[in-house]
Amino acid sequence: MSDIHGMDLFKPAFIGDIEVSNRVAMAPLTRSRAGMDGVHTPLAIDYYRQRASAGLIITEATNISRQGRGYAYTPGIYTDAQAEAWRGVTDAVHAEGGKIVVQLWHVGRVSHSSLQENGASPVAPSAIPAGGTVYTLAGNEAPSMPRALETAELPGLLEDYRRAARLAKAAGFDGVEVHAANGYLLDQFLRDSTNHRTDFYGGSVENRARFPIEVVTAVAEIWGAGRVGVRISPLSTAIGNTPLDSDPQATYGYFARQLGQLRLAYLHAVEGQLRDANGASALDFKALHEGFGGSYIANNGYNRDMAHAAVASGYADMVSFGRAFIGNPDLVERLRKDAPLHDAPQSAYYGGGAQGYTDFPAIGV
Ligand SMILES: Cc1cc2nc3c(=O)[nH]c(=O)nc-3n(C[C@H](O)[C@H](O)[C@H](O)COP(=O)(O)O)c2cc1C
Repeated sequence: MSDIHGMDLFKPAFIGDIEVSNRVAMAPLTRSRAGMDGVHTPLAIDYYRQRASAGLIITEATNISRQGRGYAYTPGIYTDAQAEAWRGVTDAVHAEGGKIVVQLWHVGRVSHSSLQENGASPVAPSAIPAGGTVYTLAGNEAPSMPRALETAELPGLLEDYRRAARLAKAAGFDGVEVHAANGYLLDQFLRDSTNHRTDFYGGSVENRARFPIEVVTAVAEIWGAGRVGVRISPLSTAIGNTPLDSDPQATYGYFARQLGQLRLAYLHAVEGQLRDANGASALDFKALHEGFGGSYIANNGYNRDMAHAAVASGYADMVSFGRAFIGNPDLVERLRKDAPLHDAPQSAYYGGGAQGYTDFPAIGV
């Protein structure tokens, strides 16, 4: 790969209103090391500080409410204590010159009663159970049978997103990413496989996209649209064994165009099946980007050469790396030098303490 392409990946840019020092984003990575109250320990400060040379850090998915939680030890952004713990993280990243947005998460049906208040059922657009497993205090378990949200409950969920957006501001983030990917609540609304509603929020693509757009609009009113991004994964069934929409190009194409009208900071797409080989050729992601009209962050299975090519050709404004950031806190420097990458063991991904979290060294130290 030529040096000219290499330079493109390390050029600063504006992603919406967020000025980034290079085009390498850290993808959101759940690490399951917070307390059961959703409050981060100081270890998270070290972890994110070590990775602050990313042009943009997108935090691990962060619950907007107790109801939105689907996995043990994931952080929240619905109490003051949670926001205060996040403040330590944002201060540390900013002190290193980095930028960080928080990924706002409601899992919908991908949850378990034992994680809900008073053992309640998880909620979803429709009462259709998810497959796969969720991580509870008892280990990996099948998700519980969800109940369908009443139409009258949706304003309350919007309020949960608003509270999370306000707390994210108080915590000092540079913006927020609305998680509409990976088969979680907003993706469950978008896909006709998981949304069988007969009210204004189901049926046509306009109706299925209505609630996700209401959420993004509510959050953008608090943050300003230029500091709000959205993540989608039109081709992934990985989480919850969630069946695809019957027409991903049309559904996510419509969604991207609507988001574009809001003039958001960016669209972030998982291209293909999550954590599988890159699937950029399996859908016209370029059309989604064009329909959106703003900045585009590409993800899934990218390596150095692919990332260089994507940015140099204008296909993407940034490329986000997930797994590579786990074992390589200084990933940007390694990409710059074409230094070898450390492949972190999967056993380090979720849960535990400092081991496999903050103990991966940077090169040259
Ligand atoms: C341990 C782990 C945790 C993840 N957690 C999240 C998450 O919280 N939110 C999200 O949108 N994606 C999550 N992902 C998906 C990544 O953001 C990314 O899409 C995926 O790893 C593919 O990118 P990569 O090939 O660069 O690793 C996670 C992936 C891994 C490996």
